[in-house]
Amino acid sequence: MNDLIQKAAQDLVSAKKAIALTGAGISVESGIPPFRGPGGLWEKIDPLEFAHIDAFMKDPAKVWNFFIKEMKELLDNARPNDAHKSLARLEELGIVKTIITQNVDGLHQIAGNTDVIEFHGNFAWQRCLDCDERFETIKLDVSQIPPRCSCGGIYKPDCVFFGEIIPPHHLLRSEQVASACTIMLVIGTSAEVHPAALMPVIAKQAGAKVIEINLEKTFLTQKTSDYIIMGKAGEIMKRLTSEVERLL
Ligand code: APR
Repeated sequence: MNDLIQKAAQDLVSAKKAIALTGAGISVESGIPPFRGPGGLWEKIDPLEFAHIDAFMKDPAKVWNFFIKEMKELLDNARPNDAHKSLARLEELGIVKTIITQNVDGLHQIAGNTDVIEFHGNFAWQRCLDCDERFETIKLDVSQIPPRCSCGGIYKPDCVFFGEIIPPHHLLRSEQVASACTIMLVIGTSAEVHPAALMPVIAKQAGAKVIEINLEKTFLTQKTSDYIIMGKAGEIMKRLTSEVERLL
């Protein structure tokens, strides 16, 4: 792993525009389980029954009780780990410009990154289904389920559920930065969900170097990634960032 970390550090230092695409794996060391693979949320509950917009509209109380309340507990207490902090340091060093994240936990912003595209929205906010009013999740009273807005409308987390579209401005900007970058770090994603998983393909086709950081190989590893550094994101990103600082 050492020589791959040195190689990635050299690639990053010589990169003109490095960006990152992150997935649930980067937040596992913050106590937030992934969706797929060992301990994954979708191993316990069926996403089509609890994380699809049709399921929510049909029975919001059930989705709130069996999915959203648990997510709120996990996210309210989560803090950035070494991987998030390393990406914030790489922005400070002028290396990483933008993060495209599939995560809704807001940990990249808390860690200090200032240009984060939240491809699947953000759990920190709720939106009223009737008046479209936003409300901060952390302040939400969940003793009454489903929680309601002062207008009486039901609150829904401001995240993209299955069956919903990616906010067009996030999709467009992600495609733009993916096609303009010279390096894309792909950290902690199974690359199973589209169109997020297309971003590394767009970057590769535009001539960028794609470097995966993951516990396991993914669909990207053979065809799209230049190389994969296998291991935990926290440890790899911490060592990678100190190697970059040594080279600068
Ligand atoms: N370090 C690095 N990688 C890790 C770690 C870790 N500590 N722990 C897990 N991983 C990797 C797993 O090997 C897996 O490839 O992170 C990936 C997590 O994959 P998913 O759980 O599928 O998460 P993600 O790719 O973000 O899912 C995409 O699917 O359900 C939807 O909206 C949800 O945004 C999510 C999307």
